[in-house]
Amino acid sequence: MTEADVDFAFNFLREEHVAYARTPAPPQNIEGAQAWVTRSVTTPSIVPWVLEDSTGAGAGFINLQNYDPVAGVTEVGFLVVPAARRRGLATKALRAVTEWTFRNLPVHRVYLVHDLTNTGSCKAALASNYATEGILRSARPGPGGIRLDSEIHAITRADFEKGYPIASRGGAE
Ligand SMILES: CC(C)(COP(=O)(O)OP(=O)(O)OC[C@H]1O[C@@H](n2cnc3c(N)ncnc32)[C@H](O)[C@@H]1OP(=O)(O)O)[C@@H](O)C(=O)NCCC(=O)NCCS
Repeated sequence: MTEADVDFAFNFLREEHVAYARTPAPPQNIEGAQAWVTRSVTTPSIVPWVLEDSTGAGAGFINLQNYDPVAGVTEVGFLVVPAARRRGLATKALRAVTEWTFRNLPVHRVYLVHDLTNTGSCKAALASNYATEGILRSARPGPGGIRLDSEIHAITRADFEKGYPIASRGGAE
């Protein structure tokens, strides 16, 4: 992600399902998107990438967040534009970033959290060798004042070193 990605971030983060899947409110104006991009590229605990389609157009985001090199732990999160969904992009990006992370950062555990109803994220996690670890009850606010449960998945360095990705678990190649 670079400072040039502000327009893409502004339009994408306000997309209905993207906004629903994230806890922070989407940026209300271009200045808010500029602040989001600047924060993403300058915060040491965030390592962001834009996903591009074959024409170079923006197709989503994937980033490490809550990266803590002392603890050796990071979270990963991803979002794909509606037009590019269900073609294996999230799975492909998650596998690539997982591999990059274990090869380049002092990380022993990468985890991801998704709403319990988010089948696409769950399948991408499983296809990328992230084991299901459990349910986080009332993990984040939902519409109308309700609380949403989440599921947490993780992969450890020991899992990764067994060989990655383990193709028999399915998903995009
Ligand atoms: C969830 C999301 C990232 C999935 O991206 P994607 O590129 O479509 O995912 P993939 O194509 O890699 O799909 C992985 C698997 O999930 C399935 N899948 C994807 N979206 C699905 C959906 N809405 N319902 C059911 N299954 C779905 C795919 O068919 C695929 O299954 P397969 O491996 O059996 O073929 C994308 O829909 C998105 O950005 N949604 C809104 C934001 C969001 O929820 N982000 C994740 C927060 S944790």
